[in-house]
Amino acid sequence: MITKQLVYEVENLTMNNEELMVNETVFHNANGYIGIRSNYEEGYPEGFDTIKGSYINGFYDIADMKQAENLHGLIEEKQTMLNIGDTQTIYLKINDQTFTMYEGEVLYSKRWLDMEKGITGRKVVWRAPNGNEVEVVIKRMTSFYQLSLFTIEYSVTALNFSGDIEFISGHNGEVRNYSNNNDPRIARESPRYLIADGAWIQEKISYLRSRTSKSGLEVCTAVKHFLSKEGSIEVKLNGHRADANINTKISENETITLLKYTVFTDSIRSSDSLSSAKKEMEKAIGLTLQSLYDHQKAYLDEYWDNCLLEIKGDDDLTAAVNYNTYQLIQSVGKDEHCNIAAKGLSGEGYEGHYFWDTEMYIQPFFNLTEANITKNLISFRYRTIDKARENARNLGHSKGVLYPWRTIMGVECSGYFPSGTAAYHINGDIAYSVVAYYLATKDMDLLETKGAEILFETARLWMDLGHYHDGKFKIHSVTGPDEYTCLVNNNYFTNVSARYNLEWAVKTYELLREAGTLKPLADKIGLEEEEIFEFQRAAEAMYLPYDDKLGINPQDDSFLEKKVWDIENTPESKFPLLLHYHPLTLYRYQVCKQADTVLSHFIFEDYQSIETIRKSFDYYEKITTHDSSLSRCIFSIVASKLGLVDKAYDYFGDSAKLDLFNTHKNTKDGIHTANMGGNYMAIVYGFAGLRIKEEGLYFSPLIPKPWKEFSFKINYEDSQIMVEINKKQSKFTLLKGGPKNIYVYDSLYTLLNTLVIDSRNGDER
Ligand code: BGC
Repeated sequence: MITKQLVYEVENLTMNNEELMVNETVFHNANGYIGIRSNYEEGYPEGFDTIKGSYINGFYDIADMKQAENLHGLIEEKQTMLNIGDTQTIYLKINDQTFTMYEGEVLYSKRWLDMEKGITGRKVVWRAPNGNEVEVVIKRMTSFYQLSLFTIEYSVTALNFSGDIEFISGHNGEVRNYSNNNDPRIARESPRYLIADGAWIQEKISYLRSRTSKSGLEVCTAVKHFLSKEGSIEVKLNGHRADANINTKISENETITLLKYTVFTDSIRSSDSLSSAKKEMEKAIGLTLQSLYDHQKAYLDEYWDNCLLEIKGDDDLTAAVNYNTYQLIQSVGKDEHCNIAAKGLSGEGYEGHYFWDTEMYIQPFFNLTEANITKNLISFRYRTIDKARENARNLGHSKGVLYPWRTIMGVECSGYFPSGTAAYHINGDIAYSVVAYYLATKDMDLLETKGAEILFETARLWMDLGHYHDGKFKIHSVTGPDEYTCLVNNNYFTNVSARYNLEWAVKTYELLREAGTLKPLADKIGLEEEEIFEFQRAAEAMYLPYDDKLGINPQDDSFLEKKVWDIENTPESKFPLLLHYHPLTLYRYQVCKQADTVLSHFIFEDYQSIETIRKSFDYYEKITTHDSSLSRCIFSIVASKLGLVDKAYDYFGDSAKLDLFNTHKNTKDGIHTANMGGNYMAIVYGFAGLRIKEEGLYFSPLIPKPWKEFSFKINYEDSQIMVEINKKQSKFTLLKGGPKNIYVYDSLYTLLNTLVIDSRNGDER
C-alpha cells in the first residue's frame, strides 16, 4: 500500500518465504557504496531460503568460469561481487523469551521505506508465549552523508511487563554468496571467496578484516553498539565473528534503544582498510544519530528537488516511479571506482556486473538531474579503457577498444559470448552516452580529458571490425540488444550506433581542434587527420538494412527470412522463453526478447522517416515477448512518439510496477535498475517528448487519459527548467540560467521566463 508519495509501506507482514525474499530486495538500504538486503534481524525458521547479503560497489573477487572447449580467446575467469559480511543480525530476548515473528503472536506488523528520510523501518507488536507484550521498532539507514556507514536503531517498548532485556548482536565475516543452480541469471555455486585476515576488538568495537582469494583486495568491517540506558555490553571474538551480548532492564512502558553502527572500508579506496575503518568509525561516533538522519534528509531534499516527478490523478504510478528514482540514487556509484550494477546493490543477480544498462537506460536520467553522477560513470569507463584495449586485442582487433559486455573492473565477464562479448553495440552505447552528456551539459572539459579518447578509440574499433562491400560499410557477426537473435550480420541497432559513433568522432575532432586542445590527445593515441576522413567515409557509407516490401528496418540481414514465433499460442508458463527453450531454437525464429530496432527508433530517430518508424514499431510489437525488463519502457517511448498515447500508457504502467509488484518473478535477486531508468524516460522522453539535440531542446508533449497533469524539472546546460503538462497546455519555466532555445511540437521558441503552449493530443502531435 502506498500511503503518500514518498513512503512505501506494507502492513500485516507476510511469513511467506518467497515474498520475504522479494521484500529483502524491495526494502534494501543502499547509498551507491554499500548495499544491505533487508533481512529480519532475528532471522527465519530453519529451512527458510534467504539471501543475507551486504555488498560494496566495485569490490570483487575472481571466479572460475571454465569453458568446456578450450577455444582461443574464450574467457575462463570472471569478476564477481562479494557478500562482505553480516552485521544485521540481532536477536532480542525479553525475560528469556526470544523474539521471532514465527512464535508467540504478532498483534501488529508493518515495514516501510521512507524515501524522504532515506530510512527503512519495521514495527511489530508481539506477544511472547509467556504473555509479555513488546513493541519493536527497527530503523535502518545507509548514509548518503558518510558512505561507509550503515546504522540500525532498534527500539523496544515493554507494553505490559518489566524485566530483563537481552540483545545478541552479530558481526560475521564467515559468509558466502548466494547461489542457485537452476537460474542462468545468478551464480551456480558459491565458494568461499573471502579469507579471514585479522579480527580485533578495541574499545568494544569489533573489526574484521578479510582478503579476497584471487583479486588481491582487502575489506574491513567495524561494528559498535550503544545502549540508550545503563547496561552491559560485552563483545567477544569467535573465529572470524564477533558477538556482542547486551543486557539491561526494562520497566513497563519504557523504551530502550540499541544502536548498531557498521562501517565498511576497502582497499580499492584506501591503502589500509583497517585504519580507514577506525577513522570512519570515529567520524560516525562523533555525530549523533539524529544529526546523521538530518544529513540524510538534507541530501534527499536536494535530490528530490531536482528529480521528483509528479503525476496528478495517478498516485500509485507516481509512487512507483518515485520508488524507481529512489533506487537509482541508492544504487549508483558515487566515485570513479564503480558504476551502477544491473541489480544495483540490492542482490546478487548478474553478480554485480555493469552492462550497457548504465549508458542507455540510467545515464539519461542522471544527465537531466545530477550530471555529476554521469561524469563519474563516464570517468569509470575511461579508467578502464586500457582493459577495453586488451579486450579488443584478445578478440583479434589490431586497433581501437572494445568495452566488455559485462564487467566489474573493466574486464569481460560474460561466459556465453553469443549473447555477451558479441554485443559490440556496447561500444556504440558508451560513445552515445559521452555525446548525450556533452549535449546536456556542454562540458568541454570531460570531453577533452576523457570523452574524446573514448569516442576516437571506439570509432577505430568499428573501422577494424567492419568492411566495405558493394560500396557499403557492413558489420558482421555481432549480436544486437535482442538476445534471442545472436551472431548476425548488420544488426540495425549496431550499425546505426556505429554510424553515430563515427560521426561524433569526426565532430569531436573538430570541436577539440577549434578549442585548441586536440594535439596532446592526438599525439597520445597517434590520431591522424587521415583516420578522421576514414571515419567520415564509413559513417556515410554505413549500411542500414531496409526492407522495401515491408517498409521497415529488418533487425539484421537474415531476420526476416526466419519463421515467426507463435507468441499467442505459447503457454504463459513458458515465459521467459530463455528458461524453457534452447538458445538455438530461439535464434531460428523471429522472436525478440526486447526492444532492438524499436530502441534505435528512439535513440537514433533521425536516421529514419516517421513512416518507417511506425511500420517497424507495428512489426516488432507482434514478435516481442518483453522477457527483458529493458523492453516495455522503450515501446512506451516509441508509442508516445507515434502519438499512440493509450498504448504508451499501458506499456509504461506494466513496466513501472516491475519490482514493487515482482512482475518478472525475480525481484528476490535484486531490483532492475535499467528498467527503473527506462520508466523515467517513458515519462520525460516518452509523454513529454524530450530530445536533446545539437540545436537545442525538443518537447512534444502528450498526456495519458487518466492523468490530470504531470510535472518534472530538468537541468540543461546552465539552466534548470520546470515542465508542467496538463490536458490544455504545456508550461515551461526557466528556474535558473540563461535563455534557451526550445522546440515545442517542432516550432522554435526562446525560453526567457515562462512559455505556455496549447497541448495536443496524440493524433495532432
Ligand atoms: C538483457 C540485457 C541486459 C541484462 C542486464 C538481460 O536480460 O537482455 O539487455 O543488459 O539483462 O540487465
